[in-house]
Amino acid sequence: MSEVLEVQCGDDPIALFRTWFQQAIDAGSKEPRAMVVATVDPDGCPDARMVLLKGVDERGFVFYTNLGSPKAHALLQEPRAALCLYWDKIDKQVRIRGRTERVSDDEADAYFATRPRLSQIGAWASKQSQTMRGYFELEAEVTKTAIRFGVGEVPRPPFWSGFRVVPKQIEFWKQKPFRRHERILYTRAPSGWQKQWLYP
Ligand SMILES: Cc1cc2nc3c(=O)[nH]c(=O)nc-3n(C[C@H](O)[C@H](O)[C@H](O)COP(=O)(O)O)c2cc1C
Repeated sequence: MSEVLEVQCGDDPIALFRTWFQQAIDAGSKEPRAMVVATVDPDGCPDARMVLLKGVDERGFVFYTNLGSPKAHALLQEPRAALCLYWDKIDKQVRIRGRTERVSDDEADAYFATRPRLSQIGAWASKQSQTMRGYFELEAEVTKTAIRFGVGEVPRPPFWSGFRVVPKQIEFWKQKPFRRHERILYTRAPSGWQKQWLYP
């Protein structure tokens, strides 16, 4: 029998998100954490790029990045974002909109400490989205950084941290045959989450 979202969804969109995320993993999604994050530039122009979802709980959805990057500049000036995840193995999409906030230094430190050493060095070496003369310049920066830290611990760069998207809306979309897709929109209200069905 084909799954019907209506009978599966409860009142908690975070719980439903976790269920779908686990389904994507179980179905063998290559990168279930990949999501588009859309921001608004200071001049009002939209921009979008992929990032990896690194944390989700009742507070929101977290990703990490270079604080000197265009996306971080956009979020520091206009702290609102939209996220979009699509899992092709299970034919499902989730869209999230809300304000953004920086994660705490302690939270960022704890996550950074879990990263492979070469990724930690890579975070120091990259002036994300700035131009360089050629790829050799990045390789030179990586080598310099590796020498600088030697065999010691690599601390989190002060210019690298995370953003949390605090959801005010979360929409779940499940593909069905003949364009009869199921869509359910959760909107945060003072009393809790409100649920509405949308035409596909
Ligand atoms: C699957 C995938 C995952 C990515 N994850 C991240 C990430 O977690 N953080 C990040 O800063 N960039 C990530 N990137 C690179 C970004 O898409 C982007 O190229 C980079 O962050 C610069 O974006 P900006 O110039 O808009 O700031 C990822 C790219 C792909 C394709």
